[in-house]
Amino acid sequence: MSGSELRRARSRGFPGKDDEGMTVTPASRETLAIDGGPPVRKTFLPYGHQSVDENDIAAVVEVLRSDWLTTGPKVGEFEEAFAAWVGAKHAVSFSSGTAGLHAAAFASGLKAGDEAITSPMTFAATANCVLYQGATPVFADVSSDTLNLDPAEAEMRVTPRTKVILPVDFAGHPADLEPILQLAERHGLTVIEDACHALGAEYRGQRLGSMQHMTVFSFHPVKHITTGEGGMVTTGDARTAEMLRCFRNHGISSDARKRQSEGQWRYEMVLLGFNYRLTDIACALGLQQLTKLDGNLARRRQIASRYAVALEGIPGLIPPPVRSEVLPAWHLYPIRLDLSVLSAGRGEIFRALRAENIGVNVHYIPVHLHPYYRDRFGYRGGEFPVAEEAYERLISLPMFHGMGDDDVEDVIRAVGKVLAHFTR
Ligand SMILES: Cc1ncc(COP(=O)(O)O)c(C=O)c1O
Repeated sequence: MSGSELRRARSRGFPGKDDEGMTVTPASRETLAIDGGPPVRKTFLPYGHQSVDENDIAAVVEVLRSDWLTTGPKVGEFEEAFAAWVGAKHAVSFSSGTAGLHAAAFASGLKAGDEAITSPMTFAATANCVLYQGATPVFADVSSDTLNLDPAEAEMRVTPRTKVILPVDFAGHPADLEPILQLAERHGLTVIEDACHALGAEYRGQRLGSMQHMTVFSFHPVKHITTGEGGMVTTGDARTAEMLRCFRNHGISSDARKRQSEGQWRYEMVLLGFNYRLTDIACALGLQQLTKLDGNLARRRQIASRYAVALEGIPGLIPPPVRSEVLPAWHLYPIRLDLSVLSAGRGEIFRALRAENIGVNVHYIPVHLHPYYRDRFGYRGGEFPVAEEAYERLISLPMFHGMGDDDVEDVIRAVGKVLAHFTR
């Protein structure tokens, strides 16, 4: 082992051999911060964080000085720029990704008595949008590599009531879209892709969001670009886009600015919608953020590559697998623990990493195991073994485009230190 390899092994907490062939196990002797030793970092590194620069601030201030704070010119500009970036025919902005999911569920025609098949390995909002429409979310288990909806499991859950299939691009790794689209075609289903983790991800060389059905994105601060709160739904279908626009504006078929420019006072409410509009303030921020999206994605991919190389071979740790047909967007970096070689459970390792000032997190408690879903649908655990078993072993490492190289190395060092300590 060369000097630099040895130093790297030391910093990663692995046993290794020095130039004279002597075994060194330095980090396993380091006292963990949770046991009173010095933490790897002095300051806390969160798992996700926004990047906002002076251009973003100037764009927002400009709108604040203008006539339109809510639906003004920036809304359309942002939607057009976003549609062009993902390669969609239509993009409709919303006050959050959750509002976008609700609108997509509405536009799909979901109603009481209908079913929508989705993944349990997601944030609750994915399944909740089905409930907002009075329909029933039907979970199907996930594939063990990507933790995305398993198309074969999904197909087994199709009934005459099924109207929608709602795959999730977990952590930014695209769902298994081709078989899902084929399944939708066979059974006449609408696809609502929850791409809230996956802006900029590619499936077979195409950016997510360019399909005919509906794709939903989120601009929450931990995402690839932010508008504070915010979301977008893309679709290839003009009538669907029109319905989405109407739904986000109380079900009113024209907006105030259009009426003003046409000298009209009359408006008509044609369906029961909500106020889910994204403001001009937020859209100005979104437009500026969009100019940085390529760079943000490149940085996230660079961090993921560094993690993959540095963490490979650490006993007790399995990095997230990537299928050959995709380019992930890396919203999260979820590692799985191999508990068979570790002397501690996920909870203890999580707490040990937090004590090292590494802001690890866990994504996700499978949705059906939340009390609301247990109480309402009678789930008891054990229904979706792949998702449930993965959940017990998942830890999300910090992943955001503003992370510096030193931050990345701190995470690697802390993971090596903690896992070396707990490896049997
Ligand atoms: C998979 C998934 N779907 C939907 C949402 C909801 O997005 P928002 O927070 O913009 O409402 C999130 C939020 O993080 C999410 O992770």
